[in-house]
Amino acid sequence: MTENRIVPNRKSLFLRACRGGPVEHVPVWMMRQAGRYLPEYRAVRAQHSFLEVCKTPELAIEVSLQPFRQFAVDAVIVFCDILVPAEAMGLPVEFQDAGPVLPRPVRSHSDVQALRDFDPDKDTKFVGQAIAGLCRELGPTVPVLGFAAAPWTLACYMVEGRAKSGFGAVKQMRYADPALLRALLEKIARNTARYLKAQIAAGAAAVQLFDTWAGELSAADYDEFALPSIQLLLEELAAGETPVIYYSKATNHLLDSVSRTGADVLSVDWRIDLKDARAKCRKRSGPPFAVQGNIDPAVLLGPVEGIRQAVRDAVAKTGGTGHILNLGHGILPETPVEHARAFIEAGQTTPLSAVASSASGI
Ligand code: CP3
Repeated sequence: MTENRIVPNRKSLFLRACRGGPVEHVPVWMMRQAGRYLPEYRAVRAQHSFLEVCKTPELAIEVSLQPFRQFAVDAVIVFCDILVPAEAMGLPVEFQDAGPVLPRPVRSHSDVQALRDFDPDKDTKFVGQAIAGLCRELGPTVPVLGFAAAPWTLACYMVEGRAKSGFGAVKQMRYADPALLRALLEKIARNTARYLKAQIAAGAAAVQLFDTWAGELSAADYDEFALPSIQLLLEELAAGETPVIYYSKATNHLLDSVSRTGADVLSVDWRIDLKDARAKCRKRSGPPFAVQGNIDPAVLLGPVEGIRQAVRDAVAKTGGTGHILNLGHGILPETPVEHARAFIEAGQTTPLSAVASSASGI
């Protein structure tokens, strides 16, 4: 099913794409690729709770491998959740049908002080074990990705206590006690740096920061609160040769700011034109960023020809270099498996020469 498009070394392909080097085709994977749209994932979840899967390396490894077995994706992201470090810092987290709930949200200075600086080699050892196990299973030619939340997005969950909250509590904190929000962001940044360092030590070929709620902020607030915390995190992480991918959602108004995070690859959603992202986001030293994205996950609910067209259009925007093809947000649970397959296959078979001519100005 995938034999005719095997790339000899997916890790090399992925790392070349992160650095803007020459590639055979765009590497492609999907955010939330291990998830409920896969029957084999639902079968595991019928037997085990979500957190049990995250915390049991054999189970986390099994579900992380499911999309690789199905579609031969070009990168395998470790199965976990952005809220795992919140729990390690001392906040209980429950995964309910309507989404995650943190029953004891952070609201005061004493709440922030009570957050623990956790030891990733002890308190979240299962993440490193899952990454190391995946590296063993997959061998040296498949990149395993680690991840964490960006500080602002994790702070949203820690202060609101649940998803889809309207952001009243965290925005109130921003206006009523900005120093408190800053202290929380700094604590998250320092803990996340150590958490990601442990993931790289375990074998992660690249790490991604998820800043799902960055778009909630004005440019001024992003620059004042979110940006310094990401910069601190990345300084402390000192990832060196290991690429850092920064995903943010609905950040058309923040492109200039997201270029200053210190990340190597900018992952954007479908609201942003990939060509614009390239043009507007330049590293201080000059060269354009590699970009990741940006297909609307809803495209995968439509017909296969539309999926192929969306992939061709996205690859035409970048010319295929410095581009990791992905969705603009996590794959939707109602996505047909065959449509996910069509997306991966289209990414791996769209010839770069055919699109290069329409990708001027890059
Ligand atoms: O990409 C992958 O396959 C790796 C696993 C992964 C999960 N969550 C598994 C998961 C990753 C990278 C995440 C990141 C994550 N988690 C984000 C950032 C990306 C995004 O989607 O915005 C956020 C905001 C969360 C927090 C979270 N976890 C929410 C809001 C929910 C509930 C909504 C939902 O989709 O169910 C979760 C649960 C969750 N995390 C599931 C999975 C597979 C579904 C749980 C289940 O099996 O019932």
